[in-house]
Amino acid sequence: MAEKSFKYIILGGGVSAGYAAKEFASQGVKPGELAVISKEAVAPYERPALSKGYLFPEGAARLPGFHCCVGSGGEKLLPESYKQKGIELILSTEIVKADLAAKSLVSAAGDVFKYETLIIATGSTVLRLTDFGVKGADSKNILYLREIDDADKVVEAIQAKKGGKAVVVGGGYIGLELSAALRINNFDVTMVFPEPWCMPRLFTADIAAFYETYYTNKGVKIIKGTVASGFTAHPNGEVNEVQLKDGRSLEADIVIVGVGAKPLTALFKGQVEEDKGGIKTDAFFKTSVPDVYAVGDVATFPLKMYGDMRRVEHVDHSRKSAEQAVKAIKAAEGGGAVEEYDYLPFFYSRSFDLSWQFYGDNVGDSVLFGDSNPSNPKPRFGAYWVQDGKVVGAFMEGGSGDENKALAKVAKARPAAESLDDLTKEVDVERHAR
Ligand code: FDA
Ligand code: NAD
Repeated sequence: MAEKSFKYIILGGGVSAGYAAKEFASQGVKPGELAVISKEAVAPYERPALSKGYLFPEGAARLPGFHCCVGSGGEKLLPESYKQKGIELILSTEIVKADLAAKSLVSAAGDVFKYETLIIATGSTVLRLTDFGVKGADSKNILYLREIDDADKVVEAIQAKKGGKAVVVGGGYIGLELSAALRINNFDVTMVFPEPWCMPRLFTADIAAFYETYYTNKGVKIIKGTVASGFTAHPNGEVNEVQLKDGRSLEADIVIVGVGAKPLTALFKGQVEEDKGGIKTDAFFKTSVPDVYAVGDVATFPLKMYGDMRRVEHVDHSRKSAEQAVKAIKAAEGGGAVEEYDYLPFFYSRSFDLSWQFYGDNVGDSVLFGDSNPSNPKPRFGAYWVQDGKVVGAFMEGGSGDENKALAKVAKARPAAESLDDLTKEVDVERHAR
């Protein structure tokens, strides 16, 4: 059993870890000062690629093509880059015990890692149907998607079951992106989700109606208002049927499940203050424990614009929170400080030929603008959310780079909107003037 000591340890090898390492490297670390410890076997990469380019039938994205930090136009940190920058990359190493008081971490193999400063970047894990006791949910070819090993299993199943039947359980991000990916791979796809419309945590009924019709036109079948209540398998253990709670059943060669994620905080339970399911931090991502920071999906941080504590499970925040934490650590060492994190929420998704962006907060009433006819070859429409007379959120499908920048500006500035009716009229005038 080895014991190693570092000045800084980043625990996790995902998006936040990659961006934190990049920030440390740009500020300067001495060889042997910084370690990144990850249970994955590969250096940090841009996770969003796994549900998009990684699954393309042709010209699929593969590592080293999408290592951090190419997703934001930054330097690509190849596995060897870490060594060149004096950073120790410790892969295939799962930490199973953390003692924040003793400043030590223990791996599954029993190795001990000591630190002066810890950045927790353990991200999220998928919710599993087996956790809810769904019968037969451990059959083969019932797949989840979080890490590159999961994506490889999806690719393997796509190849083994070419042109077969796929059932996608869940109507959120994974559900929508994976249904499209499987359809592009020529699968007969059925999506099943419990809510009245897809992506209910962001979309309004109007926005969802566009995507549902677009998907239906692409051949994806959508079953709403029910859940998978059980699975049956062939004698070889591979799934062959999905039973739905409403009594129907669907044949399936592959099942993809995307029913949400939960932050990986269990290692630190009882040792650090939590809030809203995540590790509570301040505006510099400092936790309640001295010298321990938490970034990315696990952090519940002050969202200054809204005077609220939030946890955000999206890539833009994972990158920016990681950079903020490292800047704060380095500034404090020099006796200085950095500005408080002042984050504007930004989410996006891509599937088929579609691409949307959202900035701000999806609260209050909403109004749709533009051409949301799903049969239009180049759909281009958007939505604003208005609360207390102010535009607080902005969404656009098919927006240009400039239009997306304008959305961000609106969501940040929160201009007054006299009423939803006025906004609808203004948007119409603007549309006709174009
Ligand atoms: P992340 O999950 O990236 O990394 C956590 C790391 O910690 C992993 O390497 C894990 O193995 C490691 N780890 C955990 N516990 C450990 C332990 N005990 N010991 C050692 N290592 C441990 N967002 C968006 O805005 N747009 C998008 O298009 C997408 N697309 C997308 C696709 C897919 C398939 C997923 C799963 C997620 C997205 N996201 C997204 C969300 C986005 O990727 C996510 O918010 C960030 O990856 C979060 O970054 P973190 O670094 O916090 O976690
Ligand atoms: P999600 O929260 O987006 O969606 C979960 C969906 O699961 C719900 O909308 C609901 O339709 C469905 N659901 C819940 N219980 C169900 C049940 N018993 N049966 C059937 N459906 C059920 O979560 P996700 O899509 O699993 O995504 C996981 C994580 O990955 C999230 O953190 C997400 O932010 C991230 N992600 C983000 C992107 C993106 O930002 N473009 C893309 C992929 C993944």
